[in-house]
Amino acid sequence: MMFLVVFLLTLLSHVPALDACPKCGNMLVPYPLSTSDNCGNPRYRIYCNNGALEFLSAQGLYYRILSINPSAYKLVIRPPLIGKDTCYSSDLAVGGLRLDENLPFNISVRNTVMLFNCSDNILLSPLNCSSTSYCRQYEEIEEGSGCKGTLCCHFLKDASMTSHRIRVRVGGCTAYTSVVDIKPVDPVDKWNYGIELQWMPPY
Ligand SMILES: *[C@@H]1O[C@H](CO)[C@@H](O)[C@H](O)[C@H]1NC(C)=O
Ligand SMILES: *[C@@H]1O[C@H](CO)[C@@H](O)[C@H](O)[C@H]1NC(C)=O
Ligand SMILES: *[C@@H]1O[C@H](CO)[C@@H](O)[C@H](O)[C@H]1NC(C)=O
Repeated sequence: MMFLVVFLLTLLSHVPALDACPKCGNMLVPYPLSTSDNCGNPRYRIYCNNGALEFLSAQGLYYRILSINPSAYKLVIRPPLIGKDTCYSSDLAVGGLRLDENLPFNISVRNTVMLFNCSDNILLSPLNCSSTSYCRQYEEIEEGSGCKGTLCCHFLKDASMTSHRIRVRVGGCTAYTSVVDIKPVDPVDKWNYGIELQWMPPY
């Protein structure tokens, strides 16, 4: 009997791939997210760097994970910083955010993306660049102040668009941010800034 128990315990301790990973800083790392080869599902790799949970883009940049909702298969990453003098997103040099299409993550349809410092030719695309666009409100707060007065637009990242990329470039738009599940009645400082990603459940 005792032998059987020991045997079973040994067996259980040898299926680490099914275990959730340990906390990173004060954040839980729910399954299938994985911070190392020894826990979670390695296909759902995220990174615990100096006690901060981060997501790695296909461009090789890390984005801080702000929250995780395992029952909805979603996590929210922090949008890149925007230069106060330049109105450049910190990931402009690599063209913005791009997710590896071979990985089980995509950009959810609840993101309202705002683009800043756009060139005129962007007006041809189906974006809301009017004087009532949400982006005009963002320019009024501290984080967006570097983009004040530039041509800006917003759009809902819905299913008609690529779900693996938010693009910025010199000669297009040079900065962006995103708000999850925007509520028009909410004041700009109550907006939930972030880029929501979702993952395909395993199996
Ligand atoms: C642009 O967005 C604002 C805020 O949602 C909205 O009030 C306005 O009607 C939109 N304009 C166009 C042209 O879609
Ligand atoms: C906006 O982008 C242009 C290049 O597209 C750049 O020259 C300019 O410095 C940027 N920033 C602002 C605040 O206009
Ligand atoms: C993103 O991934 C989810 C979960 O796998 C899927 O249901 C959804 O259709 C995907 N969205 C797009 C636009 O590919």
